[in-house]
Amino acid sequence: MISITSFLLWAEHVVFTLVILWAVQTAFLHGLGGLVGQLLRFLKLTVPGVDSLIKSTLQNEVQGFINQVKSDPSRTSGQTQAAAKRIVVIPKTGIPPAELLKEMNAMKEREVAVMEEGKIFAYVYTQENDKLEQVQLEAFNLYTEQPQLSTHHDKLVLEAHHAFLHENALSPMVFPSLRKFETEVISMSANMLHGDGHVVGSLTSGGTESILMAVKTYRDRARKLFPHIKVPNMVAPVTIHPAFVKAAHYFGLELVTVAVDQGSQRPDMAEYEQAITAQTIVLLASAPQYCHGVVDPIPEISEIAVRRGLPLHVDACVGGYMLPWVEKLGYQVPAFDFRLPGVTSMSADLHKYGYTFKGASVVLYRSEELRKYQIFAYSGWPGGLFGSPSMAGSRPGGTIAAAWAAMRVLGEDGYTDIARQLMNARDKVLDAVRNIPSLQVVGEPNMTIFALMSADSKFDILVLADILENKGWKIERQQLPNSIHFTLMPHHLNVLDGFIADLKAAAEEVKANPGQSAGGTAAMYGMMAKIPDKGIIDDFIVEFFSEMYKN
Ligand SMILES: *Cc1c(COP(=O)(O)O)cnc(C)c1O
Ligand SMILES: *[C@@H]1O[C@H](CO)[C@@H](O)[C@H](O)[C@H]1NC(C)=O
Repeated sequence: MISITSFLLWAEHVVFTLVILWAVQTAFLHGLGGLVGQLLRFLKLTVPGVDSLIKSTLQNEVQGFINQVKSDPSRTSGQTQAAAKRIVVIPKTGIPPAELLKEMNAMKEREVAVMEEGKIFAYVYTQENDKLEQVQLEAFNLYTEQPQLSTHHDKLVLEAHHAFLHENALSPMVFPSLRKFETEVISMSANMLHGDGHVVGSLTSGGTESILMAVKTYRDRARKLFPHIKVPNMVAPVTIHPAFVKAAHYFGLELVTVAVDQGSQRPDMAEYEQAITAQTIVLLASAPQYCHGVVDPIPEISEIAVRRGLPLHVDACVGGYMLPWVEKLGYQVPAFDFRLPGVTSMSADLHKYGYTFKGASVVLYRSEELRKYQIFAYSGWPGGLFGSPSMAGSRPGGTIAAAWAAMRVLGEDGYTDIARQLMNARDKVLDAVRNIPSLQVVGEPNMTIFALMSADSKFDILVLADILENKGWKIERQQLPNSIHFTLMPHHLNVLDGFIADLKAAAEEVKANPGQSAGGTAAMYGMMAKIPDKGIIDDFIVEFFSEMYKN
């Protein structure tokens, strides 16, 4: 039943809505100066609900504008409402290469014409009218029916890359293929990480850029929602990736680190929660952390995030495209993704276990509302209205096409198959390590990344590292505690037996010569550890990089 009063309220609302609509449209058409602009600003400040009304009006305007200018056949034309988001998932089995080829060539054809004819006056910086090649069929013929990671995979991804080499994702209007690739990569990744249809994101140049963007997003969100916070901070286990320290440094935040247990490499939850202050704007965790491959206790951190009303970013840069398959294979993995209600954003690197070339990562947000804080806008430039979703201006089309092709051609089965081989390889190395009494695995690694440390105070792991280097292996040294790091990739599958043999021999050599200093990096790391003033070490690092990049 509708009472008279509620009808009157409703009617009043309709009239009011119409006034706002008219005001926004007028402002849109004639600029925000003048009386209308002032009226809008006044209403926005004084009347509740006007803000969201303006937002939905804006959305309709934008949608109308997009429908007018874009020629994307993948969406039906003539829609006035915001089109429903298309959900694209990683195919169960990889798309047959010939089919992918046809699809990519068809998309490319539309775009290559304007470039070939020299009709485009921005975005493309080529020498001559670009006679861009079609994606080569040969590469696809090399590709076997059952995609195994091999040089064939690289050839395929390379072809996709080359075909879109000169395209630029700076504008979402100019190259519809790139927009399709990007939104589909985001959709496939979001779905893989159990996001629902509302999860959105961006493709960036790498893990660091994804992390920079997430931190900037939360900073800008805090600026708007909590303007009283002067120096915002983030809370993270000390094993969080340095890209967050870099982001804090660039964007004027503080990173509060929580110690981890030396045995498990996991933070104590009470300590984690105690680190939260009134200035905290986002919580951080890794799945897994790079150092030792241990997944943080993300279900517990998610619970804190929900309880304290704080967002939570999960850095799945290295694990994002591996853990889902590891989990499917039946290994124990703590929940780490959008299944957890507290997780509001994630970063995941395609150029690691996504098996595409460097320059590709995704940052995902639980809602469009959140991602808006990431997008940069500037309307005052004489060169036109400027907007950009991430750090980069020009964005290479090749890496975007390559990332899309890699995901489509591997499919879930391809990824799972490689994950199975790599996990078996990891188990083999870890079993071998268990038979070397002076060595131990750090914590309980959850995927194909692990670290080894000494199990005996007289055994110097850094000396072992030097010996392995002398045998030709490139070894990553870590500190606090000293350890050596391993990230297993398909290119290790054929060399692991040799590595295990060298590891055993090197361990025996160290054991036979206790107190031996190999002189090399072990000595340098030893010296560094004794310097109490970390500022001096930072100066050393700056000096080192400055020297290294001299001609
Ligand atoms: C690799 C990595 C990053 C940084 O990614 P880049 O692509 O090197 O910039 C961040 N976090 C974790 C856990 C990583 O492994
Ligand atoms: C992975 O994570 C789970 C849950 O935290 C843990 O219990 C397990 O032991 C870890 N490691 C392995 C090798 O499964």
